[in-house]
Amino acid sequence: PLIPLMPLLHATERYRFGQPAFNVNTIAQVKAIIEVHEMFRSPALIQGADLANGFMGGRTDFISSTIEDKRKGAKLLGDAVKKYAENSPIPIVLHLDHGKDLESVKAAIDGGYTSVMIDGSSLPYEENIELTQEVVKYAHARGVTVEGELGVLAGVEDHVFSNQSTYTNPLQALDFIKRTEVDSLAISYGTMHGPNKGKDVKLRREIVVAIKEILRHEGIFCAIVSHGSSTIPGHIVDEINGYGGIVEGAQGISIGELKKAISAGINKINVDTDIRLATTRNLRELFMKSPAMKNSDSVGAIYQLLEENRKQVDPRVFFQPIMDTVTSGKILDDDVAAIINSV
Ligand code: G3H
Ligand code: 13P
Ligand code: NA
Ligand code: ZN
Repeated sequence: PLIPLMPLLHATERYRFGQPAFNVNTIAQVKAIIEVHEMFRSPALIQGADLANGFMGGRTDFISSTIEDKRKGAKLLGDAVKKYAENSPIPIVLHLDHGKDLESVKAAIDGGYTSVMIDGSSLPYEENIELTQEVVKYAHARGVTVEGELGVLAGVEDHVFSNQSTYTNPLQALDFIKRTEVDSLAISYGTMHGPNKGKDVKLRREIVVAIKEILRHEGIFCAIVSHGSSTIPGHIVDEINGYGGIVEGAQGISIGELKKAISAGINKINVDTDIRLATTRNLRELFMKSPAMKNSDSVGAIYQLLEENRKQVDPRVFFQPIMDTVTSGKILDDDVAAIINSV
């Protein structure tokens, strides 16, 4: 069944586990993620970022997708997840990751999302509060869970790179949680988005401990979320490079650090880049092993993109010709079907 995130967050607190949250950009990934969670008899938390909705609902450059694209994409993803969830024995949540504004949040909720994030972390504090309050009012009236963000992660956020992180201040976190009434809060404590997190990252888990202590003292429950938590498996990076990609200096958060973060009180762990890397690896392998595809009408363009963008690890860039082939009215031929089924 499809459920809101809140009961699952309560379960993570009560039974002291960290719920992974995986980002998707295609329906095939939704299916794969549900299957693996069914295998482990675990609840599944599927995330579509704002741009994932834009990509799914749009046809051109997803970075500049419009609110209409996002509305279409959210509905597409919402319908698909709902359908899978109806036939699944595990609880499933569909959560909006890094919602930009109230319009994006509305698009997600209208499309069937049961949980949303509003990311006002780059705004001045009072503006972050105001925006988050608006979202909480809209979402809670509809039984939808809300995640806010306080503090700035270093690394790639919104496709902009920043070298500077600002750790979350625990006392400010309490003020934020009290005033906005968010159900969960993304914090900055040493993680960062993307594949280059630095060598041997040590997480500042005392920040997590402090926030949880303060919340406990006040008798408030708010789940704490760890963004930028991909582990960046070395063998996948090596395989991408073996298949013609160029991924340099890639380093993730170790499983050991994540475990310690969970025992400090982290409730939800966001993972996107690991899935992007695995998808990029599979796409490159497929093309490497099928050189004949280079001359195919429909997928020759993907081959060329792979050759021209050896550093690219966002597979949406490579999927674009697949979407173009379909939307331009050409039939979905066997080459395209083979790719969609194999990544
Ligand atoms: O946490 C950030 C997500 O990885 C963002 O993904 O490129 O779809 O905005 P996006
Ligand atoms: P990674 O880039 O480490 O996968 O982080 C993903 C994330 O925080 C999604 O919100
Ligand atoms: Na999130
Ligand atoms: Zn994130």
